[in-house]
Order: sequence, then structure tokens, then C-alpha cells
Amino acid sequence: MTAAPIHAVINLDLPGPTISRHVYGHFAEHLGRCVYGGFWVGEDSDLPNIGGIRADVVEALRAIRIPNLRWPGGCFADEYHWTDGIGPRDQRPRMVNTHWGNVEENNHFGTHEFMALCELLGADPYVNGNVGSGTVREMSDWVEYLTRDGDSPMVALRQANGREQPWRVPFWGIGNEAWGCGGNMRAEAYADLARRYATFVRDHGDNRVYRIAAGASDDNYAWTETLMKAISCLGCSRQPKGPFQALSMHYYTHNGEGIGRGTATGFTTDEYYRTMMHARRIHELVRGHAAVMDCYDPHRHVGLVVDEWGSWWDVEEGTNRAFLFQQNTLRDALVATVHFDVFHTFAGRVVMSNIAQTVNVLQAVLLTDERTGALVRTPTYHVYAMNTGHHDARSLAVHLRDDVPSVQVANATLSVLSTSASTRDDNALVSLTNLHAEQAQSVVLDLRGREVTGHEARILTAATLNAHNTVENPDAVSPAPHDGIRPHDRGLLVDLPAHAYVTVHLQLGPS
Ligand code: AHR
Repeated sequence: MTAAPIHAVINLDLPGPTISRHVYGHFAEHLGRCVYGGFWVGEDSDLPNIGGIRADVVEALRAIRIPNLRWPGGCFADEYHWTDGIGPRDQRPRMVNTHWGNVEENNHFGTHEFMALCELLGADPYVNGNVGSGTVREMSDWVEYLTRDGDSPMVALRQANGREQPWRVPFWGIGNEAWGCGGNMRAEAYADLARRYATFVRDHGDNRVYRIAAGASDDNYAWTETLMKAISCLGCSRQPKGPFQALSMHYYTHNGEGIGRGTATGFTTDEYYRTMMHARRIHELVRGHAAVMDCYDPHRHVGLVVDEWGSWWDVEEGTNRAFLFQQNTLRDALVATVHFDVFHTFAGRVVMSNIAQTVNVLQAVLLTDERTGALVRTPTYHVYAMNTGHHDARSLAVHLRDDVPSVQVANATLSVLSTSASTRDDNALVSLTNLHAEQAQSVVLDLRGREVTGHEARILTAATLNAHNTVENPDAVSPAPHDGIRPHDRGLLVDLPAHAYVTVHLQLGPS
């Protein structure tokens, strides 16, 4: 059954802020099989690799134009000492990865391997420094090692390790989750440390570093306020000028029972709706943190970086509990589309996001088979593929003229349509998600302000909400052309089947 169409008005000639391509960023931690087995197999592996880095993973991520990669954590970042990960691999010290299963970390994937990976991917490195258990000097030396040219002790060390030229490192994290695994600090104490550490993350030569302070989780607005106070002064006319230029926030989606509860593939419709309620909460949270930031920084000089987000389920049966390996279904893909709609809507404040995590951990876009090494693209991967048109495009407001159908979930109401749009040059891209588990929906795109000279729609859906891709059936959930679109007096009429994500690409006449 299809409900009455909803009218969505889009003024194609009134573009808003630019949606940074960095909103489509990624995150790779030394956790489970993300780095080892995911990105890195070593030069002696039978799997095709480029200097130890999996060639198929590189190819898959280049195809979705991965803009940046955050590394080495996460919680791991605050116990990582970078000098352990340079020099001849067989001489690197070993350590225990205490956060993630007390397994041995042999440091074979270190600074040079990460930078080589970024070069292969064509992605900007986002290095997360250690505040929790590292020194200011250690962080300062790492920046110098990576980015300085000329003559200096760190440059000499880098060159002795085989890299003559400095690298470019545009993004730097000042610790991670300082309120928790990053040191269990109070906001005020961390704010002072963030100012101090960030001061010594120098701009060497022409490398300009965008320093990101470790921000809040969920609705901890007080943490955001403390960090904003640390770099600005309420009521002053001058723009915030501090040693860091952005704050992060983390938010994980679950089914209302808490993270790591419920399996990735075995869930009821009720659990699905509770998950979607939880995913849609990202709107309230981004709006809340942005509102606090607006008070101290009304002209939006300070960025909000959502550098960990995604769904968090029980690990797959038979896998190490500390490795956070989970399957990924159509439900997870819809979690992603809902997040991206919010990031597009708040493009003026959200400058970057990083899904947790790229390969084999939590809401991964890629899974590798432990036994055969085979690579699987998850439904979430396909959302990234369908959304490349939003990269660096200007956001367009989508005004819903009618009441959107909703579903009652416990005491709350879940609105089942999520949308966003953007435009670049003579193109526009509209994202439409129907979250209803059973009911189709249609949307009239009321397109104003510019002539539409062509259109093309794609759809990501499946017969069941828990459909997922496996080595045996790698394309069970993958995008397809969508023929449920036709001209309408006001623009276009688009059919949205139940639990589906549709993108409509528009070709526009001259403006
Ligand atoms: O992504 C997994 C973990 O979740 C990260 O290491 C940490 O920052 C967060 O709590």
C-alpha cells in the first residue's frame, strides 16, 4: 500500500553551505582485524598487495573517493607511542593492545605504512595524537617527523628510515574520548591540556594543521561548552582564536538497549524501528552541539567533527568479543543515510565525519573473510558510493510541505521519511530514505528555480531488512537503477518502496 504523496519543495537556485567531502571520511583503529587483516597483510602475503597493503581494499575505497582516514584510534591512540612504529619492522618493539583484547601489537603497521596507505588511497591523513599517556614532546616530535623539511633531528630520523620528503598532514586529533578511555578527565582539565598539546602541533613549512580537540559523546553539551569557552570569549566580537580549530563528537547507534546489544542480522521489526529512532537522534545531537557552539562562535569558524559514528551490535558468533566484528545489513545502510542527511543539513558546522570503522570493525564498509581473505562490500559501502555527488556540493534545503507518515515506537514517534539535497555546477542530487518497514511512499519533488533537463534515479533496498552481503552472495544488497520516477506538474514523482534509499540525480539547465 502506498500513502498519499508528500511534496518536497527544493529551491535549486538557493544553495546553502558547502558539504565538505570530508563528511565522507573514515576511521581505522588498531582494533581487531581493521588494520591487521583489513588494510595490512604484509609484503609476504599471498593476497595481492602493494608493499603489504591490500590492493583490493585500496581499489574499493578509491572507488568511493575516500577523502580522509583517521588513525591509529580511538582508544588505541592514547596508548600508542609512535616511535615504536618506525624503523625496520623486525626490530620494532612489541606491545600489548590493552583496550582491544590484550593481543600483541607488533607495530608492523606504523607511521610510514599509514602514510603509504593514504597516498595509495588519495586520502588526507588524519593522525590522532596521544594525550592520555603520551607527552607533549612526543606529539610535537611526531608532527615534526611527518611534516618538516630541511634540517632537524626528526627530519634526519625520517630520512634515515627511507623518506626524504615531508608528508602533508592536514588533520590532527588532540587525544580521543578524554572523558573516558583517553584519560578519564574532567572537561576543564582536558580543555587546558588540549590548549597545551595543540600549541606544540606546529605548522612546519607550508603544512597547515587543522587541530581537532577530543569532544563530547552523545548529549554531553557541557563538555562542548567547556571546550568552546577555552578558545573563545562569550560576548567578544573577535572570532575564536585558539590552539585548536575544531571539536569532535562521538555517537553510536543501537537498538535502545545500549551498545553491543542485539545481533547485527537477527532483529525484529520493533528492534529495527527502535534502531531508527536512535539513529535519527543524530539530528537532535548535532543541532544541540551546534547551538552551544553558535553561542561562542556565531560565525562558525570552529568545526564540528563527528569522528566516530555508526551502529554497534553484538560481535558475530565465534569471533573475539574484543574485536567488534559485526555483519552489516540494509538496516545499517539506512542508519548511514539518516546520518548523512543530518550532516548535509548542518553543513555550515559539520566539517568532517568518520564512520567507525572502515574495515571489519563495527559499521564497516568492507569485510574481509578471515579464512580466504575474500573482500565483501557491505550495504553501507553502497551508500557511500551513491552519495559521491554530495562531496563538496552546496547543500539545498528540502521543505516537506505535508505531514510525513510516522510510526509509534514505544512512547515516541518516528517520522519515516529522511531527505537532503545538494547542488554543484549543473547537477543536483536528492537523497530520499523511506524508513517504513512495510509501507511504500511516494514523493513529489517540487523543483523550483532552475530548469531540470534530465534525471536518473538509483535505489538501494532488499526484500528483507536484515539482507546482507556475504562471500557467497556479495551483491545481495547493491544499488540498481530505479524506474519508479516520472514527470509531474511540479517536477518529478518518485516512488519509494518500503525500507529503501533512493538518490535522484538531476541535470540542470544554465543558471
Ligand atoms: O570505535 C571503537 C571505540 O569506540 C573507539 O576506540 C573509542 O573511541 C570509542 O569508544
